[in-house]
Amino acid sequence: MVTILNHPLITHKLAIMRDKNTGTKDFRENLNEIAALMAYEVCRDLPVKQVKVETPVSSCNTFVLKNDIVLIPILRAGLGLVNGINNLIPTAKVGFIGLYRDEKTLEPHEYFAKFPDNLVDAVNLVLDPMLATGGSAIAAIDMIKKRGAKNIKLVCLVGAPEGVQAVEKAHPDVDVYLAALDSHLNENGYIVPGLGDAGDRIFGTK
Ligand code: PRP
Ligand code: URA
Repeated sequence: MVTILNHPLITHKLAIMRDKNTGTKDFRENLNEIAALMAYEVCRDLPVKQVKVETPVSSCNTFVLKNDIVLIPILRAGLGLVNGINNLIPTAKVGFIGLYRDEKTLEPHEYFAKFPDNLVDAVNLVLDPMLATGGSAIAAIDMIKKRGAKNIKLVCLVGAPEGVQAVEKAHPDVDVYLAALDSHLNENGYIVPGLGDAGDRIFGTK
């Protein structure tokens, strides 16, 4: 299932990020804020379990989250989504997947992986601002499925139709969340209109 969060606050902040004149500081801050807004929607259907608590007035039956939440940013650009979501889910654990996209072939290459113990029972949120060809997201999901992850959600800021279709085909069980679905990929594999190279804009590199 693909959910596109066409929300005025998110679209407003994303417009600031898309602007080529927006600098690193504002780019990062808006990404942080959008990540938190997206987390609210992404977590809407998380499983809960019943608990009994004593309020100052009486006891009550209520609910808390049932599963651990694991945030799995795809390095580097996925790091930009961690803080905003972590602010809403402070108990979330964080795993890391290092992938870079070969500029010529557009194929993803793995250079790092580190995960918390229990991906099997956790809700695993794979984070990357950009879903272009989908190669990086598919490789990341392959990697965590190999380690037992079952409940997986892919959270991206901007997606291209090509990437969405590729992920849906490779991993039909994974829910995909996007702040916006853009038009297409250009001949260099960049999302149009997109926002450019997310990693470079977050970290001020070229
Ligand atoms: C970017 C982006 C995604 C990937 C998307 O990463 O952050 O991970 O490209 O492209 P795809 O859907 O075609 O795989 P990049 O390889 O530029 O690395 P970086 O995050 O280190 O800048
Ligand atoms: N990676 C990016 O950072 N931007 C794109 O438009 C495509 C891939």
